[in-house]
Amino acid sequence: MKSVLITGANRGLGLGMVKYITKQNTAHKIIATCRNVSEELKTLAVENKNLVILNLDLKNTSSFDEVSSAVSKIVGSQGLNLLINNAGVTTKFTKIGFLKTEQLMDNLIVNTIAPIMLTKSLVPVLKQAADANNNEPMGAQRAAVINLSSILGSIAQNDQGGFYPYRCSKAALNAATKSMSIDLKKENILVASMHPGWVRTDMGGKNAPLDVETSVSGMLNTIYKLGEGDTGKFLNYDGTELPW
Ligand SMILES: NC(=O)c1ccc[n+]([C@@H]2O[C@H](COP(=O)([O-])OP(=O)(O)OC[C@H]3O[C@@H](n4cnc5c(N)ncnc54)[C@H](OP(=O)(O)O)[C@@H]3O)[C@@H](O)[C@H]2O)c1
Repeated sequence: MKSVLITGANRGLGLGMVKYITKQNTAHKIIATCRNVSEELKTLAVENKNLVILNLDLKNTSSFDEVSSAVSKIVGSQGLNLLINNAGVTTKFTKIGFLKTEQLMDNLIVNTIAPIMLTKSLVPVLKQAADANNNEPMGAQRAAVINLSSILGSIAQNDQGGFYPYRCSKAALNAATKSMSIDLKKENILVASMHPGWVRTDMGGKNAPLDVETSVSGMLNTIYKLGEGDTGKFLNYDGTELPW
């Protein structure tokens, strides 16, 4: 893989992915976007010259075309091989009686609208990579978009209720994954939704069973193996298929 862009790369799973990719040396260019640069990410960029940090607040959707131009300059004529829409937010468990409009809006803008609109802005550079690598089969070696979803976005597996803002935003993201996979197939861009497992990050909390390294290595090794038959799927971090 020549290039990868990861959103929300300053902490949690995004930072874990940057660490894993730099350690495994599996990308020529890593573009880490975040709205608050962490010391850990800064240090990684000093140690790895192929790591570029771009400032990006995902609520600022009007900046996405500018970000796309910056990405284009970084990746050049080879385009962008892999976009990982990782950044996300959640609200605490919300029963219907306690729900607030702002919680729904906040989760929708970051978890659904931003990944859709960022992907839209980056389609030209993804298409460039798909065309530049037309000797490769469909997948991350050519061009792919991975949307970090959640099992809480699965309608089929919802037997607990609640979590309206988060569940709705991730179910809507899954719907977008499906449409993107159909619309971008002719451009040879693979699109899939992925659940990272329940992971010990700020979002997942201390009681989560998985550590960041296990989730990230599972996700990235799954992503590297995806092929044409996987576009439009909802996958667990270990590669097993999940119900919508
Ligand atoms: N951890 C789990 O158990 C779990 C389970 C299922 C799905 N997921 C999904 O996995 C992804 C990563 O989760 P995580 O556990 O790593 O969460 P996390 O530790 O809470 O990190 C969230 C990341 O998203 C970024 N972010 C939030 N709002 C943003 C905005 N407006 N603009 C730019 N960046 C923004 C944060 O940046 P700041 O530091 O600037 O806030 C941070 O980098 C999310 O999409 C999440 O829904 C996680």
